[in-house]
Amino acid sequence: MKGVILAGGSGTRLHPLTRITNKHLLPLYDRPMVTYAVEALVGAGIDELMLVTGGTHAGEFFRLLGNGHDYGIERLFYGYQEEAGGIADALGLAERFVARDKVCVLLADNIFERSLQPIVENFERQPAGARIVLSEVAEEEHLRHLGVAVMAGDRVTAIVEKPESPPSRFAVTGIYFYDAQVWEVLPTLEPSGRGELEITDVNNWYVGRGEMEADVVDGFWGDAGESIEAYYEVNDFVRGTRG
Ligand code: G1P
Repeated sequence: MKGVILAGGSGTRLHPLTRITNKHLLPLYDRPMVTYAVEALVGAGIDELMLVTGGTHAGEFFRLLGNGHDYGIERLFYGYQEEAGGIADALGLAERFVARDKVCVLLADNIFERSLQPIVENFERQPAGARIVLSEVAEEEHLRHLGVAVMAGDRVTAIVEKPESPPSRFAVTGIYFYDAQVWEVLPTLEPSGRGELEITDVNNWYVGRGEMEADVVDGFWGDAGESIEAYYEVNDFVRGTRG
């Protein structure tokens, strides 16, 4: 399975910090944010990676990660997104790298307490389709800033992006698994209200075909790019576990 780390975007929710650097280079405790995503995938056994970024600080990722060997990456490729067109747009740059293999896509601002390895193994066993990872979030206001799953028992029947009234407590985290059908879905997407190609539309395509599986992750999960409060919440968590 290949891994794609998405580290682009304009990071407007963290302005003015992100006027001078890429969001995923900001510190989480004692290290740049993106290194946690690298560690999470390598720790789960995925060591062929592509990092997709954009903007004026792309060179800093080279400076930090180099060829990836210091981080346990076997082969590291880089992709450059000319304009911030959304997560699904950024993923499109990885098509030739992934080819017909399965892919795990991780947003570089997502921090998970627990190892991703069992989830990666679940997808390895899955014959086809896609897989998402849910996290139970208590606060309704928080859910309004995320993708939220509509559930029927333990099946996901739809995903609503940034819902005014959240249909469940299950947030869709920023790790996604796809088979090669994803490359046929991406060209069919239309920009959303925020002018981006949404990963939620990709996921709903798989849900509609009955080919979406989901895991619920225990332990802490945070999206450090969601707001400055979320950034500090994630920082506090990381510091608490590593400090
Ligand atoms: C993205 C997804 C959203 C998901 C979140 C997790 O949101 O669109 O469904 O819940 O990542 O981090 P964004 O960070 O682009 O607002």
